[in-house]
Amino acid sequence: MKTKIVDLLQSKAFGTTVNVKGWVRTRRGNKAVNFVALNDGSTINNIQIVIDIEKFGEEYLKPITTGACINVTGLLVESQGQGQSAEIQAQEIEIYGTADPAVYPLQKKGHTLEFLREIAHLRPRTNTFGAIFRIRHHMAYAIHKFFNDKGFFYFHTPILTGSDAEGAGSMFQATTLNLNSLPKTEDGKIDYKEDFFGKMTNLTVSGQLEGELGAMALGEIYTFGPTFRAENSNTPRHLAEFWMIEPEMAFYEIKENMDLAEEFLQYLIKYALEHCKDDIDFLCNMYDKELVDRLNFVVSNKFVRLTYTEGVKILEASSKKFEYPVFWGADLQSEHERYLVEEHFKCPVILTDYPKEIKSFYMKQNNDNKTVRAMDVLFPKIGEIIGGSQREENYEKLMNRVNELDMKTETLWWYLETRKFGTAPHSGFGLGFERLILFITGMSNIRDVIPFPRTPNNAEF
Ligand code: 4AD
Ligand code: MG
Repeated sequence: MKTKIVDLLQSKAFGTTVNVKGWVRTRRGNKAVNFVALNDGSTINNIQIVIDIEKFGEEYLKPITTGACINVTGLLVESQGQGQSAEIQAQEIEIYGTADPAVYPLQKKGHTLEFLREIAHLRPRTNTFGAIFRIRHHMAYAIHKFFNDKGFFYFHTPILTGSDAEGAGSMFQATTLNLNSLPKTEDGKIDYKEDFFGKMTNLTVSGQLEGELGAMALGEIYTFGPTFRAENSNTPRHLAEFWMIEPEMAFYEIKENMDLAEEFLQYLIKYALEHCKDDIDFLCNMYDKELVDRLNFVVSNKFVRLTYTEGVKILEASSKKFEYPVFWGADLQSEHERYLVEEHFKCPVILTDYPKEIKSFYMKQNNDNKTVRAMDVLFPKIGEIIGGSQREENYEKLMNRVNELDMKTETLWWYLETRKFGTAPHSGFGLGFERLILFITGMSNIRDVIPFPRTPNNAEF
């Protein structure tokens, strides 16, 4: 029976026969003995396989090169070497798959992250990406655990949708129409009645609107699923396909919404520090020496809360030269968000009460008639990590905004009806999963925290 390397490295069952299967990281040694560092993905750490050359014959061992996959049975012994507890003295070695050093692209030497993106089919085999994808898993689990422990229900919202949640934004259209011969109506428009759903549909940009329907019945829900945005923004923080977590809570006002967002983020970071120590330490050493300090700082300090208006005043008063101008009404750019967080407050920030013109139609309108009860959580190195709001629960006010923005109500009637039947104050937010993973791993490009990134002109693998 196979044992995972993560367990063997903790095992004290010296003298027993064990079996491991994994990929060769390196092989070194002399004419008499070879040492193979073997990794099976269960941990960043390798187990050392000690091979007596005479026992197997040099010819047989030849294909055991970096990247090859082998199945080893042997004796677990206490290691003489430093920094490892156990190693295996090989008794049987089966070679599952070779990796010809002349063509296998992942050799022992370090590779740039840019190069590794071009071989995304192999990069999970590197220490870096093994660490990142293990952390990604632990964070997904922690998210479910956090909400489950609080009595929230995981509510599945559709990926194919007939509405545009954010009231704007570019969506990916989903169609089965023959693009080479589109059916047309009498006035020359595309006849979507002929399409699969009998109407135009898109991939979702957010599960929020359907999530609100869940909260108006189950009380507290969350969604966690893939989200699609066809913005042509080639930045280190945007993906065309990303994962978003969207809790939605009946009877929460903006204050409770902020409290939940803060508690949630601190819980996740703490969970990562406790459960992903080896991987985080590795990334800290390799890429970002301040990573662990930054994570600890965010866990142990309260987030600063202020209004957009106060934030803009601070930005206007600063002597910093920004690429984009700052004025009341401007949509804050990442440079502005990061100035507030990294230079001014030196702490995560929650900005609230944004001008209604730059936020979505569904946000609760303040009495000033100018701002809405939006909240964005801003993080060091990331900028916006969470966007959310209290929702407008008053039917007339919501309809006024819908009309002001000239929105079509025929795809939204079901959403608007929640305000007619048993409406209630409620709030929610969206956490970008990859932005969270960026923060926790200390990586600087979002393409490096999802196994197979989708960005403009890039849907390989
Ligand atoms: O601020 P956004 O657009 O908010 C919503 O979609 C709301 N419906 C959320 C809600 O209230 N339920 O997106 C939420 C978060 C952002 O703060 C950011 O972390 C992430 O999603 N995000 C992206 N992540 C990667 N690539 C993109 N293109 C992203 N766009 C947004
Ligand atoms: Mg936002």
